[in-house]
Amino acid sequence: MSDQNLSTLLHEMTLDEKIAQLTQLATPFFKGASDQGQITGPMAELGITEDVVQNSGSVLGASGAKVTKNIQQAHLKENRLGIPLLFMSDIIHGYKTIFPVPLAIGCSWDLDLAEQSAAIAAKEAAVSGVHVTFSPMVDLVRDPRWGRVMESTGEDPFLNSEFARAFVRGYQGDDLSNDHVRVAACVKHFAAYGAAEGGRDYNTVDMSERQLREYYLPAYKAALDEGCEMVMTAFNILDGIPATGNKKLMRDLLRDEWNFDGVLISDWGAVKELIPHGVAADEKEAAHQAFSAGVDIEMMTPCYVHNGKALIEENILDEALVDEAVLRILELKQKLGLFDNPYRGADEELEKEIVFSSSHRHAARELAAKSSVLLKNDGILPLKKEQNVALIGPFAEHDDLLGPWSWKGSKEDAVKISVGLLEKIGSAQLSVTKGSDVKTTSQAQIDEAMEAAENADVIVLALGEHSEMSGEAGSRADIRLPQAQLDLIKALKSLEKPMVAVLFNGRPLDLHGVVDQTNAVLEAWYPGSEAGSAVADLLYGDSNPSGRLTMSFPYSIGQVPVYYNHYNTGRPKDAPDAQVRYVSQYLDIPNEPLFPFGFGLSYTTFSYSDVTLSDNVLKEDEPITLTVDVTNTGEMKGEEVVQLYVRDVAGEVVRPMKELKGFEKVSLEPGETKQVTFTLNEEQLRYYHSDLSFKSDTGEFIAYIGPNSRDVSAHPFKLEK
Ligand code: GLC
Repeated sequence: MSDQNLSTLLHEMTLDEKIAQLTQLATPFFKGASDQGQITGPMAELGITEDVVQNSGSVLGASGAKVTKNIQQAHLKENRLGIPLLFMSDIIHGYKTIFPVPLAIGCSWDLDLAEQSAAIAAKEAAVSGVHVTFSPMVDLVRDPRWGRVMESTGEDPFLNSEFARAFVRGYQGDDLSNDHVRVAACVKHFAAYGAAEGGRDYNTVDMSERQLREYYLPAYKAALDEGCEMVMTAFNILDGIPATGNKKLMRDLLRDEWNFDGVLISDWGAVKELIPHGVAADEKEAAHQAFSAGVDIEMMTPCYVHNGKALIEENILDEALVDEAVLRILELKQKLGLFDNPYRGADEELEKEIVFSSSHRHAARELAAKSSVLLKNDGILPLKKEQNVALIGPFAEHDDLLGPWSWKGSKEDAVKISVGLLEKIGSAQLSVTKGSDVKTTSQAQIDEAMEAAENADVIVLALGEHSEMSGEAGSRADIRLPQAQLDLIKALKSLEKPMVAVLFNGRPLDLHGVVDQTNAVLEAWYPGSEAGSAVADLLYGDSNPSGRLTMSFPYSIGQVPVYYNHYNTGRPKDAPDAQVRYVSQYLDIPNEPLFPFGFGLSYTTFSYSDVTLSDNVLKEDEPITLTVDVTNTGEMKGEEVVQLYVRDVAGEVVRPMKELKGFEKVSLEPGETKQVTFTLNEEQLRYYHSDLSFKSDTGEFIAYIGPNSRDVSAHPFKLEK
């Protein structure tokens, strides 16, 4: 359908039809949905009439070729103008083939594998009739108390931006009409949802505009620069105004400054939440504020349908705003080819062939291995096939390995840890006991585990958080493992056998009681459908751990927020002339995190040598290069993530001690050396000044190179103009 025809269609629509087009409802509202019932509580509560359903524009959470076809067919029969529905769903780290959670994928530092995971998710979703995924979530995170850190790729704006681009490329490709393999992406949550005070979900966010632009906005912008079709509003306030009604954020910045003319959708209920936020007295005011902010689709609340018409008839709302919102939705439907084929992509035969295919599961297994981070190893790993192993812990045989936001994945199909180990060693060498549930244990359970460990050469602990202990509304004030699991570790420690802890969790944890009690710690996060196979590959060295943390692990909750790109303060504790007391420190814990951003171990070792700057003066149009020789000095092939950081020694405003400016994951055979080259240019040194101008200053800089944000060598240079 041509643009002209879309305008014609828009003008054929009645005001009621236009306003209903801006409403997104969940699957049960629709005829043809497998669980379609009478108008039940939710619809009755929402006061959504059949007429609104017949004219609504999109469906939340429907998937499956047959179901989506049924819903679309029933809808087209009743929709006067034959406008097809958009099917949108949360496909966050896989559709049915579940990949590691995004925080884990970030730790892979592998943009190609991240893009591949999104492309596979898109393929499985598209043949299942999905048109849009509410992904990537690119909220920058610094507070592990927040349950949704598992959805982010971490604490660095540059790295998050690179992953945002990779995910959008994977979902959308370069031709959305290529209907069997691509879905439209929706970047979220705009903006700065990850900065909720106290790490408490939905809580207040308050920061300077400079802080917002320097750290929290880049990844959203990167997703949009990569062509992301949609944006979702955040639940939180910014500068005292809820994002969903925030004209400065949505109109002035997103639409005018960034020239975003795609579809802006509210998060679930966020339009109506303007009332409890305290900026709208009622649904009518809420609708007006969201419309004025440019929110095109209201998700799962009726403010628009109940008040849009009155707002226009009372000349409070300009109908042109409604028209532009409807047109953006029609344009997205056109881009997806829905006017030509409302059943785009949905194909039962292809669904059987593509969804959860062995090649997809193989990709999930590879990414899960590359996303895991080896935090400690005294040499006990890799395990030897001849060892007798006691696998103990709540996750030994648990199926909760997919993590939050894996709603179409099936836990039953996930490879359990016990199964993964059985693939490596026979049952005669492996005993499996729980020893504890996730949150509780008993003496009987511990006794059983102690007995099982009697004949073992090594104990593998499978510990962690239940997936409902993170994810949305999953904030925790205490980020240690549950006490029951710490008690289990302590009891087993008395056997004086080597112990390996494998962790399944959605956030950086306070690992006291784990790291100090075990010989090795492998952070496996929620590895997804191929969890057991990937973990077994890592434990036995068939995969060499290569993950590096993208979110700091605090020494304790008392440090939070703790992140690598911090400022120096006027009394840095580590200054050469620092006093003992009057410096920025805690009396009872160190300032440094337990494990820093970029950290991760390997079964081999690497050395860095011959770091060379092509020049120690960088000019605006004369970039310099930094080269470094990286050698695998161990006995095993491995991958190293070479990281480049930069410090602006004196800025117009305070500048972070380090900022990631480049990275390269290199694979090295034992004894092999590779030269890695980074280019440094003036653009990379730009930042937001006190007047919000974005530019660089001449002066002293320091380039840092190394395997993480802590263990680096320093290489000064100057910027001259
Ligand atoms: C949820 C989440 C959002 C998700 C939406 C639809 O509340 O905040 O990330 O996409 O609702 O499920």
